Amino acid sequence: MTRHAAIVGTGSYLPETVLSNHDLEKMVDTSDEWIVTRTGISERRVVADGDATSDLAARAARIAMDRAGLGDEDVDLLVLGTSSPDYVMPSTACLTQAKLGIQCAAVDVMAACSSFVYALQHGAAAIESGRAQTVLVVGAEAFTRVVDFTDRSTCILFGDGAGAVVLQASETPGVEAVLLGADGSGADQLIIPAGGSVRPTSAETLEAREQFVRMKGGDVFKFAVRVIPEVTSEALAQSGCTLDELRWFIPHQANERIITNAAARLGLDSDRVYLNLKNTGNTSAASIPIAIDDLYTSGRLSPGDVLALIGFGAGLTWGAAVVRWTMDAPSKEA
Ligand SMILES: CC(C)(COP(=O)(O)OP(=O)(O)OC[C@H]1O[C@@H](n2cnc3c(N)ncnc32)[C@H](O)[C@@H]1OP(=O)(O)O)[C@@H](O)C(=O)NCCC(=O)NCCS
Repeated sequence: MTRHAAIVGTGSYLPETVLSNHDLEKMVDTSDEWIVTRTGISERRVVADGDATSDLAARAARIAMDRAGLGDEDVDLLVLGTSSPDYVMPSTACLTQAKLGIQCAAVDVMAACSSFVYALQHGAAAIESGRAQTVLVVGAEAFTRVVDFTDRSTCILFGDGAGAVVLQASETPGVEAVLLGADGSGADQLIIPAGGSVRPTSAETLEAREQFVRMKGGDVFKFAVRVIPEVTSEALAQSGCTLDELRWFIPHQANERIITNAAARLGLDSDRVYLNLKNTGNTSAASIPIAIDDLYTSGRLSPGDVLALIGFGAGLTWGAAVVRWTMDAPSKEA
């Protein structure tokens, strides 16, 4: 019998503090109207002082574990995607595991905004091969900590948050197909220049503010609108599902114009396209699991629904997963 990996629990966490476009108007030369028109974003959440990415990750993961009915002994592997790790070393997955108080293997995946789809692939593969029974897959970001709030071209885009799913071995799919890709020749399009082995942090790099994200926005925009329809179609074909069968198109929440442009190229009507970035901004690795949890908790997912999860971002990286939903609608308890 074929062994599959299915989602059996979801969770998410958004910090309480809201940073609106009007707040940003007081920080850089921008306007609410410019930001809404170019991106669709009105506000984003900002991590609390004293919290790190692992704190947001652990809160989302605990909710997902509880929904799946897991005990602390039940997780075999924790795979965490992030671009704003607590430290370069050790991994944020290890710190999250410690905060959850569980024993399991733990590893970070760094594929920027595609990280969740990459992490899902690792988790599903471990289960399908029989190497794991239960995997916690997390996307978490304290992204505002790596954003330059003097750079109006980037600081308007990003926000903080975390989302998690529990994957478990199942007789029925589950994760039906995952397609991943990368093109490192585009590395300079979206990059944190300093703090790694190329440019270790120094007085000079701090002076140049190279510890923060730099982006060639136009190039990233063109890459995204090209790659999203391609990877969506390929992953659907690989899974044997048609576009007509697709219930939810869940792209990484980068920019409303990117998403509507890509959805139009695919010929998708808006009621199948998930959008929440108006209130969250771009939460990088966290955006897709936050979206899944939002759809689940709001009762918009039914068993049998076909979901396409589409990541794209720095690297350059991209990834698409076709998932058949298996969880029953939530009871009123949560
Ligand atoms: C960043 C982005 C919104 C910029 O939109 P754009 O239409 O490409 O705008 P441009 O970069 O061409 O800038 C147009 C003008 O607006 C200005 N501008 C940039 N940011 C601004 C802001 N926050 N407020 C007001 N003006 C701004 C620019 O300086 C430029 O002015 P100029 O014409 O006088 O030089 C857009 O490129 C984008 O969304 N790219 C993808 C980003 C993304 O999603 N990254 C993450 C992927 S995972």
